[in-house]
Amino acid sequence: MEREVRWGVLGCAGIARKAMIPAILNAKGAKLYALASRTREKAEAFARMFPCERCYADYKALLTDPCVDAVYIPLPNVLHAEWVIRALEAGKPVLCEKPLAMAAAEVRDIIAVSQRTGVPVMEGFAYLHDPLTARIRELIASGVLGRLRYLEANFCYLLKDMSNIRLRREVGGGATYDLGCYPISFFRALTGAEPLEISVAGRLGAVSQVDEDVHVRMLFPGDVVAVSYFSFQSHWNTYNVVIGEHGLLQLGTLFDRGDQKELILDTDTAGRSVETIFTGSRYALQVEQMNRVIREGHRPAVSLDFSLGNAVMMDSVLARCKDHG
Ligand SMILES: NC(=O)c1ccc[n+]([C@@H]2O[C@H](COP(=O)([O-])OP(=O)(O)OC[C@H]3O[C@@H](n4cnc5c(N)ncnc54)[C@H](OP(=O)(O)O)[C@@H]3O)[C@@H](O)[C@H]2O)c1
Repeated sequence: MEREVRWGVLGCAGIARKAMIPAILNAKGAKLYALASRTREKAEAFARMFPCERCYADYKALLTDPCVDAVYIPLPNVLHAEWVIRALEAGKPVLCEKPLAMAAAEVRDIIAVSQRTGVPVMEGFAYLHDPLTARIRELIASGVLGRLRYLEANFCYLLKDMSNIRLRREVGGGATYDLGCYPISFFRALTGAEPLEISVAGRLGAVSQVDEDVHVRMLFPGDVVAVSYFSFQSHWNTYNVVIGEHGLLQLGTLFDRGDQKELILDTDTAGRSVETIFTGSRYALQVEQMNRVIREGHRPAVSLDFSLGNAVMMDSVLARCKDHG
């Protein structure tokens, strides 16, 4: 039997603690091997929570460890492209948190290095590995909703803590990178297309100078309209709606963490039904998919082309936010 994929993590991030290190520990065929932090104390404190074999006080050292088979990057957004490229150059396959990079140009740099080195990289959109997403895709493909007409996806919460990386411009803050990447990717994943038109009403925070409150409307081929609101200035809300000619899907939360979620289906023919779907394993499913990429040469479920398309859309949204600033 092949040995486990030995994962190294760059940075003692909140998402690593809450979701991704537990997922590495739970995933089949994966092992937490090394942690790296900017400071030794932090790395060691993390390692007391999550025992592993190596603890590094700088990120570069982890990348030169020959026993590390794969690297997970949950750093602030502004550091993603740099550390993805460093890891690829060191021959380490990468799972990098969303957004993969700060701009389409950076994603193109990542693609070039991945192609030259032959080392794979995947953007960490855990919801795209979620059984709930698979069920939504299955229902749309079954034709039960009829022709798609309208998509809606919101992701908002009130954020006032100016020390949070999400409100700090210099580390890649902003609602589009943090929240908007989800609805944008959702619309593109479900339609399998790029929008023909996009309109944006987006405001920069007066103090943060990052986009804090954004409303987007996109028109996809086939006259499918997609609408999203993502904001750090609103009461918590996240939901998704998919409407076709003959039915609709509604769900409370797809993008947020949570162990089980309800999917409402309402159609002309079958009426209304509610399915409860277990979604707690999605981060582990993401790790297992990356393990198959590394061990069996599978294609990443989130392709670099898909990430590039998302980055192009985020560039477009952000350019318009500045216009409205
Ligand atoms: N997929 C998801 O569900 C999900 C959820 C939340 C966040 N995320 C993504 O994960 C990434 C991290 O988010 P987070 O909320 O976990 O962030 P966080 O808790 O603030 O952690 C970021 C880590 O990056 C390291 N770091 C390096 N340079 C830094 C700097 N200049 N300022 C601050 N931290 C720095 C720090 O680790 P050391 O000090 O140990 O080096 C820090 O702990 C973001 O890209 C975010 O979009 C994904």
